[in-house]
Amino acid sequence: MIAHRARWIFSCQSATKLDVWEDGCLVIGKDSRIAFVGPTSQGHKKYPKAQWTDHGKSSVLMPGFVDCHVHGPQIDMVGSAGQTLLRWLKEFAYPAELKYQNAAHANKGWKKFACALASSGTTHAAVYSTSSLEATESLMAELDRWGLRAHVGPVLMDRHAPRPLIGPASRQISGLQQLIKKWKQHPRIKPSIVLRFVPTSTKTLLELTSKIRQKYSDLIFQSHLAETQEEIKWVKKLYPKHRNYTAVYSDHELLNDRSLLGHGIYLERDELKLLKKFRSSVIHCPSSNLFLGSGLFSLKKVRESGVAVALGSDVGAGTSLFMPSVARSAYEVQALQGHFLSSAELLWLITGAGSKALGQKDSGTLARGMAADFVVLDGAYDPVLSDRMANAKKHEDRLAAILMLSHQSHVKLTCVDGKSVYRRD
Ligand code: GUN
Ligand code: ZN
Repeated sequence: MIAHRARWIFSCQSATKLDVWEDGCLVIGKDSRIAFVGPTSQGHKKYPKAQWTDHGKSSVLMPGFVDCHVHGPQIDMVGSAGQTLLRWLKEFAYPAELKYQNAAHANKGWKKFACALASSGTTHAAVYSTSSLEATESLMAELDRWGLRAHVGPVLMDRHAPRPLIGPASRQISGLQQLIKKWKQHPRIKPSIVLRFVPTSTKTLLELTSKIRQKYSDLIFQSHLAETQEEIKWVKKLYPKHRNYTAVYSDHELLNDRSLLGHGIYLERDELKLLKKFRSSVIHCPSSNLFLGSGLFSLKKVRESGVAVALGSDVGAGTSLFMPSVARSAYEVQALQGHFLSSAELLWLITGAGSKALGQKDSGTLARGMAADFVVLDGAYDPVLSDRMANAKKHEDRLAAILMLSHQSHVKLTCVDGKSVYRRD
């Protein structure tokens, strides 16, 4: 058995229920699951023979971070500034995704992407690949080699994008079907149905995607929704007969409790009702929304409508893969609207809420019997962070300091199923 001792352990059972252990430990059983989480004094007594690692007096152990919306190839152009969404896609995102048609470029890029995820403490992600099936398979293989959990699919598009990225809908769907058959049983890397967004989809693509969605209703479906006003106007023009943007998805039977809709800044009441009815999740991507100037998402409005929300980095429109940075952006976006999120709520959004949205019942929270997916942050070399952690009077404030001040280089260890997928040394 393996045991990790940390100065603080934080985990959320819900947005309002924070568990904290000061001088805590996490013991991993032979089944790779959490056998014990609690005070080190108790853990030592129960498991004296475990192989113990002490992460030191400025360490924090938390559930692994969950990124519910990220674009793999866009790791190459993250931080490309100066445009709003539709121009940004044309000028930066599509050209980056095109390059992944080349196998050598893809293999190199995926290594960088997988390493960046693991070294950011992310253990589980919902990933948009590029449109190439071969490149998507090599991405899945790379994420598998790293030992990460992910939902991955080729980006389906059959219009309004550069030629090599689009192809006949029937060919794309039959390719996706093959990929699904091959990867369906994998314990960590799951195939996903990824439709870029409505403007890049013909009616035929929507209908064929709907068929495959009915057949594989347990897979994660990912798409974008109501991110900018310009995009919404375009959707209205392309699909005038549907009541609204969300209805284009629901009328094609694409929504269920495994559907993740990225952004949703400009959702109307009727659209929220539809999302609630189908128990689909909205993935808020605050760093991206700020960077592209897309708008201010109201977490309060969406929550009050009964729709589940989790967070996504949306790299490359988002500027960081490190989910505490994304949580900080979420805090700032809500603060601008007079709504101040608690640190427990922020941690929940990047851990348990993400696992729930991805249908993963046995991770996202640290508790006996759960998968041992966790991250260790180390503030020892950073006196600003370590002093704030040491001197905070309340755990809520300590957690706020960790989420607001930490960055990727504080990640010391990332584990999935108790196995290290990234170790800083
Ligand atoms: N809408 C359609 N495609 C994209 C994308 O790649 N990034 C973002 N932020 N929005 C999109
Ligand atoms: Zn996106």
